[in-house]
Amino acid sequence: MPTTRGEILSSVWRDGIFKDKVLFCTGGAGTICSVQVRAFVILGGNACILGRNVEKTERMAKDIASSRPGSKVLGIGAVDVRDAEALAKAAERCAKELGSIDFAIAGAAGNFLAPISQLSANAFKTVMDIDALGSYNTAKATLPYLVESAKKHKNTGKAQPTGTGGRIIFVSATFHYTGKPLQAHVAAAKAAVDQIAHSISLEFGPLGVTSNVITPGPIAGTEGMERLSKQDEATLKRSKASVPLGRWGEVKEIADATVYLFSEAGSYVNGHALVADGGQWRVGGADMGGFQYPDFLLGGETISGVAKGGKKAKL
Ligand code: COA
Repeated sequence: MPTTRGEILSSVWRDGIFKDKVLFCTGGAGTICSVQVRAFVILGGNACILGRNVEKTERMAKDIASSRPGSKVLGIGAVDVRDAEALAKAAERCAKELGSIDFAIAGAAGNFLAPISQLSANAFKTVMDIDALGSYNTAKATLPYLVESAKKHKNTGKAQPTGTGGRIIFVSATFHYTGKPLQAHVAAAKAAVDQIAHSISLEFGPLGVTSNVITPGPIAGTEGMERLSKQDEATLKRSKASVPLGRWGEVKEIADATVYLFSEAGSYVNGHALVADGGQWRVGGADMGGFQYPDFLLGGETISGVAKGGKKAKL
């Protein structure tokens, strides 16, 4: 778990940009979301994190609060994002105890690898309910507060003297861009998540709220990478090589994307899916005709069939 400031966010951000602002985050005890929240808290904000497991959520809230003396981080456990009423109550408590909800992250997700032949209707529904309905419920619970915040902290494109507010981010995936075996349930759910985000950008943009998606690729040290991949050395090496940048991402790189979208730097970004995956999803089109990506590029292999007999390219 990243703990030092350098592991949590880049040095380009200024302290205090989220001073007196409040972030509401579902799935906040997970690796990626907890680092998104930690970055927000380090930069001056307070937060509520929500989770199903009471002990894990409260422990994480305490830990995040230790990132900045004087910060307030509320851990609200026993909240399942499938339960709209529980989320609405949690949002009410968050706004009452911390003063507002200026930002939200719909981060709670469920995932496992399963082929359709072994995926029951209930298994499919479970992931749809956690990811898609859970994101919708998170938006419904927080939007009234986000609209209030957007009214107070006007998004004019000019410098925002009281800082930013009224922004929501959905954590998604790229599986539905290309299709992905063993992920029919998640691909369907994340496609829905993206469209919920984009509908909000249209319906709440006129009220000053921005709604965007962050799509992490393979991020090192996360539960997802442990759950969704074999852990032998050859598989891990191949997985890293399949990313154009040749490595997995760091959680800090997702926190940076979050700070960008929540800060004044992201004021005109609305209805966008920010893919932070090192270019991985595009590789779907790169394994062509037996030439294995990226070996044929790095090894200087001659590509047959290029012009007459092929030429060795020089970079
Ligand atoms: N393969 C196939 N089906 C599976 C499965 C797997 N690995 N894991 C669960 N299911 C099925 C169950 O069998 C059940 O279907 P059934 O009633 O037809 O048997 C259905 O999914 C619901 O399972 P259940 O365990 O009751 O759901 P839950 O709400 O307690 O848990 C999960 C939700 C399944 C998504 C669980 O993995 C979870 O809690 N995940 C949270 C953490 C997480 O996934 N993070 C994402 C990191 S990328």
